Amino acid sequence: MAIEQIKIGFDNFSYVIYCPVTKKAAIVDPGLDSAKILQFIASKKLTLEYIIITHYHSDHSSDSKKIKSLFPQAKIIASEADGKKLALKPDIVISDGNKLTFGKILVDFLITPGHTPGGICIIVNNEALLTGDTLFIGDCGRTDLPGGNLIQMYTSLHEKIMNLPDELIVYPGHDYGEKPFDSLGNQKYTNKTLKAKTLKEFSTIP
Ligand SMILES: [Fe+2]
Repeated sequence: MAIEQIKIGFDNFSYVIYCPVTKKAAIVDPGLDSAKILQFIASKKLTLEYIIITHYHSDHSSDSKKIKSLFPQAKIIASEADGKKLALKPDIVISDGNKLTFGKILVDFLITPGHTPGGICIIVNNEALLTGDTLFIGDCGRTDLPGGNLIQMYTSLHEKIMNLPDELIVYPGHDYGEKPFDSLGNQKYTNKTLKAKTLKEFSTIP
């Protein structure tokens, strides 16, 4: 299993998840300029099978149309709530707990609302946790944008993310932290939004 973290635009991260044996691949969050993503896929001679959208915001999804036109066989994956807001209808609508396999890659989907109503996080081979705009290194996603909800974010972080294994490596949707990725265990220990013990405490974080 391999994950390539690709910085796009000012501070967004896109990802390519691929199986080095079968060369099957998925792109996660092709927002903004996808040229670097396409270059990477070509350089590794990967076969693009899926385009996974963690949430509908344009900086995470806007180039999915262009990529789909280049790779018509690739299937767009999103949650039901956020999929409705995409320019292209998803080919696969996922629910909490759904799984996907390609090559030697196993993806587990978690629905983690709070930043958007249908935001998702994905676990790859029980090693990596791609968090979109739900969890950043040192912070969490905004809840004050349309569709955001502070209570849902607290629940997603504290009833889902906090219950996942410390060994997972968190790969966020933006480069907002002091490092581009980190172990979930270290984030549980240092991230103010995960350290908050109550909703009240969470709601007062600046
Ligand atoms: Fe976002």
